[in-house]
Amino acid sequence: MVRAYSDRPVDPAAIERALRNAVRAPSAGFSQGWAFLVLDTRADVDAFWSATTDAAAEAEPDSWLTGMRTAPVVIVPCSSKAAYLGRYAEPDKGWTDLDEARWPVPFWHMDTAMASLLILLTAVDEGLGACFFGIPPDYDAAVRERFGIPEDFDPVGAITLGHRSDQAGAAGSPSRRPRKDLAEVVHRGRWSG
Ligand SMILES: Cc1cc2nc3c(=O)[nH]c(=O)nc-3n(C[C@H](O)[C@H](O)[C@H](O)COP(=O)(O)O)c2cc1C
Repeated sequence: MVRAYSDRPVDPAAIERALRNAVRAPSAGFSQGWAFLVLDTRADVDAFWSATTDAAAEAEPDSWLTGMRTAPVVIVPCSSKAAYLGRYAEPDKGWTDLDEARWPVPFWHMDTAMASLLILLTAVDEGLGACFFGIPPDYDAAVRERFGIPEDFDPVGAITLGHRSDQAGAAGSPSRRPRKDLAEVVHRGRWSG
């Protein structure tokens, strides 16, 4: 994840490729209950940060915010639970009760996360940097209001996109906490240990 960017603009064709790849993600029932708010002008990106930052942080931004604000592009992937409930009420699925208990795992978020990963992977292919990050719940309403996100879509987070800054630094999270060993997370045949 890259958290500081240069002022070099991103080729719009690269953004297009990232979005085209995103919609090739798998989705339950091919529901495709996702949408992507693309902010690629300085004014829109600044508006995103204003909507997600309180006055104190705006006055004195920390290093995370200072770096992230330099990204020339922000994409907000949104998921639609309604799209899945509707799709699975169709005759080939038949869940006409629209019962949410049928969804122990919220596939709408999962599928939008998979699409988000394809954006991140496209960034790598394009020689760009990117970072997926959460939008704190306190700012959800402000983001919806500012960008007109409809009620039946939920932002699952946001992705900054741009050329890595020289100041971005190479040390990632694995330098602060170890990556888990495969033996710790892989259970062959039976969960053991
Ligand atoms: C669901 C999710 C939420 C994340 N939220 C944040 C976040 O709020 N801020 C941030 O800087 N990174 C966030 N990240 C990025 C992770 O911190 C990053 O993937 C992990 O630390 C490894 O990358 P790193 O080595 O660059 O830190 C998030 C990643 C995921 C998948």
